[in-house]
Amino acid sequence: MNNKYYSPLVFELSKPGRSGYSLPKNHWGEHHIGDINENLLRQNKPELPEVDELTLVRHYTNMSNNNFGVDTGFYPLGSCTMKYNPKINEEMAALPAFTSLHPTTPECLTQGALELYYNLQRALSEISGLSEFTLNPCAGAHGELTGLMVIRAYHQSRGDHKRTKIIVPNSAHGTNPASAAVCGLQIVEVGSTPQGTVDVEALKGLLNDEVAGMMMTNPNTLGIFETQIPQIAQLIHECGGLMYYDGANLNPMLGVCRPGDMGFDVMHINLHKTFSTPHGGGGPGSGPVGVTAALAEFLPNPKVVKGEDGLFHITYSDSALGSVSPLFGNFSVLVRAYTYILSMGREYIPMAGKLSVLNANYIKEQLKAYYKLPIDGLCKHEFVFDGLLEEYGGGAHDADKVTTLDIAKRLLDYGYHAPTIYFPLLFHESMMIEPTETESKETIDQFIEVMRKIALEAKDDKALLHGAPHHTPIRRPDDVFAVKNAKFTF
Ligand SMILES: Cc1ncc(COP(=O)(O)O)c(C=O)c1O
Repeated sequence: MNNKYYSPLVFELSKPGRSGYSLPKNHWGEHHIGDINENLLRQNKPELPEVDELTLVRHYTNMSNNNFGVDTGFYPLGSCTMKYNPKINEEMAALPAFTSLHPTTPECLTQGALELYYNLQRALSEISGLSEFTLNPCAGAHGELTGLMVIRAYHQSRGDHKRTKIIVPNSAHGTNPASAAVCGLQIVEVGSTPQGTVDVEALKGLLNDEVAGMMMTNPNTLGIFETQIPQIAQLIHECGGLMYYDGANLNPMLGVCRPGDMGFDVMHINLHKTFSTPHGGGGPGSGPVGVTAALAEFLPNPKVVKGEDGLFHITYSDSALGSVSPLFGNFSVLVRAYTYILSMGREYIPMAGKLSVLNANYIKEQLKAYYKLPIDGLCKHEFVFDGLLEEYGGGAHDADKVTTLDIAKRLLDYGYHAPTIYFPLLFHESMMIEPTETESKETIDQFIEVMRKIALEAKDDKALLHGAPHHTPIRRPDDVFAVKNAKFTF
């Protein structure tokens, strides 16, 4: 069970006049630190906490120990692939030859870095089946926006200005409609079948010559593989639109199947998920965008190409998009992803995808006697429960029921990060679980055991669940209040 240190604010530890440094008038050996000129001294005391060095060190060390991360425990966060980030990635990204490289260093002095950039573009092309990649976008949503701008530029280059509508399934990730809106496109929602896949009959009724394209998240946010993709791609192409693939959920398909082969024209990949680079708390990320050969001219600048001289060159075209990020995006994330690809190789990359599917299905099957599974059948890397089964006290919006929030809070008591809750929005009590391929069977079995235990607790002692967590420094903050009244300073 968790029993972590409660840390006060560093300002609460402050004692007037206490200090964590000394500035002696030093005449030691050859070194002389003189007096600071009067005119350089500040007139008012800074409003900083006054603490001694050891108090400060303990304060931050204890706070860091309160952090939960994939290096400290199981993190079954659906739709976010919190997989382990191998340490060799960090070692490579920390190489001084990379970290001390200035982004505007001339090509002739940066051949190694450009080769890495070029090779990663090629590797992603091979993995996805799309011809060309830009690695410049700095996040998944940034990749979506870039990809949609490519689609818009394509239609505009053909004088097809009335194509301003983008079809987005109701099972898509929330960033899809958001990115489309930022791109100035109108969102047309298409529903899902009871099996959780796109309703193709409903889609047919939405097609016309105003459709710029369709965005699909696959596997979708229910963790289900969209089996009708070839038919959907044909329908969209026949009506003159392009197919966009949200590849943030590419993990289960690694080395098994490729969006380019399914009929997609544009996609983004989240390196900070599928390719094991760390993320969380907003970045830094990387959302490379891949396109078919026909759309390559619309990719943003700059590009890295391999010349006939065998050297790597940075090129700028008169692409309609211009640039989407400062130079090459988040380069250190690219180093980590490339290291992951090289260290896994063709041999082990497909294994990652398959194991992530096996692990998710194993948990689902072991727990479906306790938790409500709205869509049964084979899932990919993640799946969704709709809260506890009624016989275990489950139910929505009723003080007498045990909700998904209660279960998530109780998991914290057992030392687990909660899964994604209340997303996707298709069910009242969604709880989205993604174990990833990096967890051992022992860890997964322990998690299953705890989830069963929580179900039994819910049946016997609802109050225990309603009051959870019982062993964390902070228990149930009012998160809606916190979001509406964000206060970032003391
Ligand atoms: C399916 C899907 N698409 C897009 C995104 C957006 O990626 P990012 O958070 O890097 O902007 C996410 C991230 O959670 C996702 O899960």
